[in-house]
Amino acid sequence: MILASLTVNPSTAADATLLEYLRVDAGQTGTKEGCASGDCGACTCLIRSDENAPYIAVNACITPLGDVIGHEVLTVDVLGEEELHPIQSAMVNEHGSQCGFCTPGFVMALAARLDPNHPQGELTETSDREAWNQAIAGNLCRCTGYRPILDAAQLAAKSGARARTLPHGLVIDALHC
Ligand code: FES
Ligand code: FES
Repeated sequence: MILASLTVNPSTAADATLLEYLRVDAGQTGTKEGCASGDCGACTCLIRSDENAPYIAVNACITPLGDVIGHEVLTVDVLGEEELHPIQSAMVNEHGSQCGFCTPGFVMALAARLDPNHPQGELTETSDREAWNQAIAGNLCRCTGYRPILDAAQLAAKSGARARTLPHGLVIDALHC
């Protein structure tokens, strides 16, 4: 299968981060910039080296673009493109978002954790709250509070997220001149 790709332009700075590239060059503006220093999780997106590998959640603001050339990147813009992921629906149902600035990051972190192929094993709706807390450990929310977000995670687990593998992302290609 040929996957959709994003091409890195010659004008892209050699020291660009994945976040700068996604937002400025690729127009994937669903991925947010908060602290720009790896502390808030607003820029969380998922990376995998090939389609058989599990997705890993990364902070795009501290990920050098050069490190992920040839990798697949799944952003919040792509996650629900065809159909909302269960964690997106659950965030709506549980009122897990107020200003929404942190929401793309929480959605991506939880989508990765709910994936049946996650390397740390399955979390289910009956997993204890501490295990779910760990799943959002790198994500900060300043206005909603964490209870509705964790409720959404458990609702998503109950409503079939674990049976749904994550979609293909976009392959980041270097421009070959
Ligand atoms: Fe990347 Fe805050 S913007 S962790
Ligand atoms: Fe506003 Fe989380 S919804 S920071």
